[in-house]
Amino acid sequence: MPDRKSVEVALRDRMPSRLFDHSRQVAKYAAHLAELHGVDPDWIYIAGLYHDLGKTMDVDAMRGAAESERIAFDDMEARSASLLHAAASAALFQKDMKPPDSFVKAVRGHTVGAAPFGPEEQILYVADFAEPGRSYEECESVRRTAERDLHLATLEAVAFKMRFLMLRNKTIHARSLALYNFLLERPGRG
Ligand SMILES: [Fe+2]
Ligand SMILES: [Fe+2]
Repeated sequence: MPDRKSVEVALRDRMPSRLFDHSRQVAKYAAHLAELHGVDPDWIYIAGLYHDLGKTMDVDAMRGAAESERIAFDDMEARSASLLHAAASAALFQKDMKPPDSFVKAVRGHTVGAAPFGPEEQILYVADFAEPGRSYEECESVRRTAERDLHLATLEAVAFKMRFLMLRNKTIHARSLALYNFLLERPGRG
């Protein structure tokens, strides 16, 4: 199990300071949610630190990193740095830290989601959406919900993201819709 501080020290030099600050906020908030919802807080913390590291690469390097770690991506992701960074970050995390698969998946799924979507994935998705540095109004509600119901908080976050895109006539990734449906359809929500 890698030590939180030593990973922070190693990653601080690999990212611009704003991205590092965001990543650390995500890590801290994700670890808090992990304690509440029965997920390993140490691994989710490291996943949080890594989740946007791929943003430091250009699209070609992102593709190369994902391919070399066999992290799959689709055509829509291949064309877009803002989507592809999730696959690249998952590849870097897997290569450096050898984490359990569920945490690689959490980094992989933090941007557009996936179905099924387990607790590790839900925590990182919610933490990225609602970390304390985020100021949009919907964060408050998602944060409140996440204290008691992780599943519902993830549903609120994905629904908000999809509404945001639809109101601007932007494409919605098929996996985001699949995540939304998965969360609605899963029996025994809560
Ligand atoms: Fe991201
Ligand atoms: Fe992020």
